[in-house]
Amino acid sequence: MSNPIIHKQRIFKKTIKIPGDKSISHRSIILGSIAKGKTEVTNFLNGEDCICTQKAFESLGVEIETNFHDSENPIVKIQGKGMEFLRAPNNDIYLGNSGTGMRLLTGLFSGLNFKSVLTGDESLSSRPMKRVIDPLSLMGANIESSEGKAPLIIYGSPHLKGINYKSPVSSAQVKSSLLLAGLNADGVTTIIEPEKSRDHSERMLDYFQSPISYHHGSLEVSIRRLEKPLQAQRVKVPGDISSAAFFMVAAAIVEDAEVELLNVGINPTRTGIIDVLTMMNIDFSIHNLREEGKEPIADIIVKSSNIKAGEIRGDIIPRLIDEIPVIAILAAQAKGTTVIKNAEELKVKESNRIATTVSMLKQLGVKVEETDDGMIIEGLEGREFPGGDASIVVIDSKGDHRIAMSSAIAGLHSAKPVEILKSEFVNTSFPSFFKYLGLSDVLR
Ligand code: S3P
Repeated sequence: MSNPIIHKQRIFKKTIKIPGDKSISHRSIILGSIAKGKTEVTNFLNGEDCICTQKAFESLGVEIETNFHDSENPIVKIQGKGMEFLRAPNNDIYLGNSGTGMRLLTGLFSGLNFKSVLTGDESLSSRPMKRVIDPLSLMGANIESSEGKAPLIIYGSPHLKGINYKSPVSSAQVKSSLLLAGLNADGVTTIIEPEKSRDHSERMLDYFQSPISYHHGSLEVSIRRLEKPLQAQRVKVPGDISSAAFFMVAAAIVEDAEVELLNVGINPTRTGIIDVLTMMNIDFSIHNLREEGKEPIADIIVKSSNIKAGEIRGDIIPRLIDEIPVIAILAAQAKGTTVIKNAEELKVKESNRIATTVSMLKQLGVKVEETDDGMIIEGLEGREFPGGDASIVVIDSKGDHRIAMSSAIAGLHSAKPVEILKSEFVNTSFPSFFKYLGLSDVLR
């Protein structure tokens, strides 16, 4: 398939039902597979990352039925029998590009009574796993790695013990990994974070009736060993605010734009992007606030805006960490200079996202300075991205889905067409992205 090429749009008016949240879809498969009874998941994200997690549990003997024919509402039904019915996989478990899949399963499998081997693609195999291996080892887990990286060999043991862990990073993957291990650990497992990371695991573990204890907004969460099985539930996955963010920025930067985003998850641990829209003077409104399965949801309308620069730093960072590449596109269209700080975690995402975001902006002709924990972006004050000397801007996504999508959004307001290399990686989190962008020739 040829590479997508995005051309400038003067008008961008759309209504989009946002596909399911990636983090919540992963967790629905994991909890549905260890619960007793039938868990039905609607608006499941049928992207490659979550499908790897689904396949992982199928390889442990869990019956999972999928219906992805209605692309507006992919459904998954999981016939859970309880954790004790999970059996050793016959083969290595491949988790593709997914850090969430690998880190969460490492925690869960550490406390189960079998050996498993977790592998991933080139990007995942280069990402740090010590951040889960170290605390899990303190709990008594036995994990072999290749110098802290995948493949991971997990010698599961039902004799883990609870720990009190002060995490050096604000990471929902680390926290969730320990919570899942804690379900099979003696005593209490407590995790304390420096800043609050997304709390979907806490909310869903509570919804499935696990012995979890936490307060919204608190940096501390505890869980006890599971005495009775989790109870299967119906899960309606909210739309992924990280996917919605691309179209929020598209609406803000195109000259005559109005985008209505339906069914967007607005869990406060994820809404840093909304705070940034306010700070950067974006014309938006929030409607139809509601709650489903302990997660808040709303519809959001965003319009063309006079964008102002701002400073993005401190405890907002974990609440918008995945949105930074596309926020950088927004900042590059602002009046003034935007500073992004305290975002060193970007270096260990699907790519080194400080480097790949800065390189994307440079290709687009933006003045940007890379710093050790972020970047400084000089805004174009609404002028089209100029690009370089060539007649087309070519951006290598480096296999990072969020760089590919952010580059495509920039193309909507670029003086020269923007061609994206390795765009197929959008399938990890947002397979219908190019369809919603209006590029039917790159339909996947
Ligand atoms: C995720 C947590 C975040 C986020 C990732 C999904 C999750 O990673 O960047 O896309 O589902 O728990 P970290 O835990 O590394 O911050």
